Amino acid sequence: LRIGVLVSGGGTNLQSIIDAVENGTLASKVVCVISNKASAYGLERARKHNIPAFHVDPKNGHYDEELLALLLEQKVDLVVCAGYLKIMDEKLVNTFKGRIINIHPSLLPKYGGMGYFGIHVHEAVIAAGEKESGATVHYIDTGVDTGEIILQRQLEVLEDDTPESLQQRILAEIEHKILVEAIKQIEGSN
Ligand code: GRF
Repeated sequence: LRIGVLVSGGGTNLQSIIDAVENGTLASKVVCVISNKASAYGLERARKHNIPAFHVDPKNGHYDEELLALLLEQKVDLVVCAGYLKIMDEKLVNTFKGRIINIHPSLLPKYGGMGYFGIHVHEAVIAAGEKESGATVHYIDTGVDTGEIILQRQLEVLEDDTPESLQQRILAEIEHKILVEAIKQIEGSN
């Protein structure tokens, strides 16, 4: 599959896809990385691996059109949102229906939706005294974090966990693994 990855920040999930392609775990190819943030380190990760990296500026007024045009131009088969913090516009979701996925660091539907992004997810999980948390890979539909679930995995929240320690453990032990597994599953069904 020709994969287009959308990032907004550090891109550790993107890195796990790049590594899986390079070590042969995935048969796909990351053909482009796009970010709404010029400073996103995920763009730097792409450049280091000779993957075309694009910044599309939300302030230029045609963000959604530009993003869609770029994905179509690159003949992307599968759009992967990995640490991407913008809501997809309906035209893009409908154009890529069933071929656009997202990873979210909670056991959806719990702690999903607006407001639950980045560290806030883990703050809420700990504040609620949850005994377990985890991450979910799901198809994107026109809702926020509401699409059909592809893969979900949990881990236990430790007594002394802080939002940061929980975030790091979920990233390393869950997210990076289930994202690659989900893409491998999609490869198999294509
Ligand atoms: C991750 O927890 C991801 O699930 C969330 O953003 C965080 C950062 O991801 N959407 P990355 O390191 O930029 O891939």
